[in-house]
Amino acid sequence: MAKTAQIAPSILAADFAKLGEDVRDICESGADYIHIDVMDGMFVPNISFGSAVMKSLLGYAAVPFDVHLMIMDPDRYIEDFVTENTGFVTVHYEACEDLGETLHHIHSLGVKAGVSIKPLTDPQVLDPYLEDIDLILVMSVEPGFGGQKFMPSCLPKIEYYSRKKEELGLEYIIEVDGGVGPANAHLVRDAGIDPIVAGSAAFKAADRTAAIRGIKGI
Ligand code: DX5
Ligand code: ZN
Repeated sequence: MAKTAQIAPSILAADFAKLGEDVRDICESGADYIHIDVMDGMFVPNISFGSAVMKSLLGYAAVPFDVHLMIMDPDRYIEDFVTENTGFVTVHYEACEDLGETLHHIHSLGVKAGVSIKPLTDPQVLDPYLEDIDLILVMSVEPGFGGQKFMPSCLPKIEYYSRKKEELGLEYIIEVDGGVGPANAHLVRDAGIDPIVAGSAAFKAADRTAAIRGIKGI
């Protein structure tokens, strides 16, 4: 049977002038999480928004926040993103000095911990940490901007983490981020992804409900 997945629409592609309404609408259109892309202009060459923007959405999001911190030395800011609606806080492997400590820090705040790797990072780098990770976010574009083209080189990495999960009997979830829409979502679903992050393909769709159903494969 064809695989289905949940979806985490990224507000990076929303209309910032009416962010609350857009978030409410995307939840009604079938979102399972709201993906929060935080960029610091250092780890990635772009600045997005900080925790105040996310917190302003607390009354609008009917599903948990899935926070993606694209910032150097993320320990400085993790606490700011922990709210009653925060499901996951994900940091980048490449941005942490001591990933084990950072995972411990996230867990100590009572939320689930994610780790993301950039397209050129070897998937094996996470091997020593797999037991402490709740979510692995495989980047399928270079982080920094929405609307880029999907990189199929992420697929073997997804398969690698699916295999490891089974071999080791672990529970982490595997998420993919960048360039996914209704036309190519089956590739990542078949590789074992759940949930899928989608910015442009979800928020900028003429019919958001249809686009979201297409991405989820339902
Ligand atoms: C890229 C971000 C992604 C991005 C996804 O740095 O982490 O979440 O906004 O956007 P699309 O789906 O438009 O590629
Ligand atoms: Zn993201």
